Amino acid sequence: MDEFHHIPVLLEPVLKTLAPHPGDRYLDVTLGGAGHASEVASRIAPDGEIVGFDRDPDAQRAAGTRLAVFNLKTTLIQASFIDLDAQLRAHGFDDRQNGGGFDMVLADFGLSSPQIDNTERGFSFQTEAPLDMRMSQVGETAAEFLARIDPNELADILYQYSDIRQSRALARRICERAQTGDLRTTTQLAELCCGIMGYPKPGHPHPATRVFQAIRIAVNDEFGAIDAFLKDIPRWIKPGGRLAIISFHSGEDRRVKEAMHRWQFPCTCPPRLPVCVCHKKPLGRVMNKKAIEATPEELARNSRARSAKLRGFLFD
Ligand SMILES: C[S@@+](CC[C@H](N)C(=O)[O-])C[C@H]1O[C@@H](n2cnc3c(N)ncnc32)[C@H](O)[C@@H]1O
Repeated sequence: MDEFHHIPVLLEPVLKTLAPHPGDRYLDVTLGGAGHASEVASRIAPDGEIVGFDRDPDAQRAAGTRLAVFNLKTTLIQASFIDLDAQLRAHGFDDRQNGGGFDMVLADFGLSSPQIDNTERGFSFQTEAPLDMRMSQVGETAAEFLARIDPNELADILYQYSDIRQSRALARRICERAQTGDLRTTTQLAELCCGIMGYPKPGHPHPATRVFQAIRIAVNDEFGAIDAFLKDIPRWIKPGGRLAIISFHSGEDRRVKEAMHRWQFPCTCPPRLPVCVCHKKPLGRVMNKKAIEATPEELARNSRARSAKLRGFLFD
């Protein structure tokens, strides 16, 4: 297990939001190394059930080993939660309308520490490695993506996902180099970023950090997956069920916040109408008005909790 070590973030508030009870059914759509899941497992044993998604085969293997000791009914699905609905049905699960669903669901977006720390995966530019960045380890690599994308499209991605002001110039240069087959490694991309955005200054993040983040989000279609997940998940949570979502990026948190608001206030009638005629019923309520963030104590232990934001929703 130690080769897949990830400290679960916001563990205490996550457990408070999920409120696990013995016998509960738990769905974890970003299982990782089962950090959160093993804490939940110990609380729902001996009759509880776990269903876990991760698109990364390394994470799935580590989670399987870690969860085995709890002897719970466990289903591991190596797939993206973009296909939540189809995957759950294919594995024989029923949604809440058909008497099924889950008591608790957790989504903890982004990367596991081992994905970042294993430099061969191409998520980090600390050492030279192929420009890969695929969480699932299959499909188009970052190098292939950059070699085929239109520079204007890449500029939009850099600007919208990571607020990069020099996005046009940077995108043009990246695409030129990638299309000639001359941009294949993490350090080549980091060096190219410095050439346009400036070299890192002491005490400031490396300029390539935000470029890598934007490209990673695009290569893995992370926002597309979150949109699909937020559309499907209400069907899979039982009455009284709890949903906890941890985001690390403002684009993720905005999607979560807006979806939860829509679930609580679904009425689409114009405000001038004296009574509701759309008859859309609330699905439940937001559990905390403001997102929960890491305490200074947690940040001292785990700097990767820095940008984490937790939101919870209680379904009727
Ligand atoms: C922050 S980690 C989760 C860590 C986990 N909660 C723990 O405590 O060990 C996020 C995990 O979600 C996975 N992941 C990200 N996007 C995914 C998606 N669309 N579908 C399935 N897994 C995804 C990543 O591969 C990664 O292992």
